Amino acid sequence: MAEGTALLHDSSTSPRADALLLLAHALHREREWIVAHGDATPSGEEAQAFERLSAARSRGVPVAYLLGSAGFYGREFLVDENVLVPRPETEHLVAEAIAFIGNRPLRVFDVGTGSGAIACTIASETHATVHGTDISSSAVAIANENARRLGVADRCRFYVGDLTEPVRAQRFDLIVANLPYVPTAEIPSKPDPITYEPREALDGGPDGLSLYRRLLTELPAFLAANAMVLLEAAPPIIERLCDLTRNSLPHFTIAVCNDYAGLPRYIKAKGPDGLLGSQSPSIGLGPGRVE
Ligand SMILES: C[S@@+](CC[C@H](N)C(=O)[O-])C[C@H]1O[C@@H](n2cnc3c(N)ncnc32)[C@H](O)[C@@H]1O
Repeated sequence: MAEGTALLHDSSTSPRADALLLLAHALHREREWIVAHGDATPSGEEAQAFERLSAARSRGVPVAYLLGSAGFYGREFLVDENVLVPRPETEHLVAEAIAFIGNRPLRVFDVGTGSGAIACTIASETHATVHGTDISSSAVAIANENARRLGVADRCRFYVGDLTEPVRAQRFDLIVANLPYVPTAEIPSKPDPITYEPREALDGGPDGLSLYRRLLTELPAFLAANAMVLLEAAPPIIERLCDLTRNSLPHFTIAVCNDYAGLPRYIKAKGPDGLLGSQSPSIGLGPGRVE
């Protein structure tokens, strides 16, 4: 523990906690066991495994990739270098989604599902059916495996494809998205742990909003009556995302909401009651028309 903590001192903001997690992984034990057995001696093989893990962590590899899993909303999700490590700041958006769904068997769409953390959590906590898309086939394979492990595969459908393309001609009661939103020039360089995450999970184009801009033009045609839309982004670009959402959904009530750290983190757009979300001329509905 002391050696691991010292090795990670310069590369991690939580060297002791990281060392404890990695040692527990190398010993196939719970962290509590390690704390309670400070005088135990690891075998040579266990010590080597711990050294390998600590060395990789000191190069910046995220702990979640080394452990092969990440905690999100009280559940463990399988993760590897093909998916973004689910972030605690996304949990507030998920709580909002769960509160909106309540006991209703709604249809939900998670755009850019990654590990399936948002989709599988919503399916686990509600009776909703969740569809998710991702441009990465490796991410979709992981999302499917997470749904299977969490026992919600029967209510989760994941598709490989660009934004809404795989779910054409369907409408949803709730659409959530945590799309890549880091401006290209602001993507950090090594050894920042973020650089180990897939670039296609981070890069939001010149101003961070390229994917959301495209999504918001497509979105109206996918919204059912009384639908809600929840979109996550970084605090510095949230107001611009809010403006884009207003332009795309002019009849929706739109608010910027904070994450648990009190930072403006996601957009909540609620459709007017009894009105189809889309004002798209392609389906011939104007404001105030009830479907
Ligand atoms: C920021 S990650 C979020 C992953 C997951 N939703 C979460 O919150 O942990 C964005 C995800 O969007 C996916 N993505 C990027 N471009 C996409 C596109 N054009 N269509 C669909 N998914 C895309 C990435 O592969 C990545 O899995």
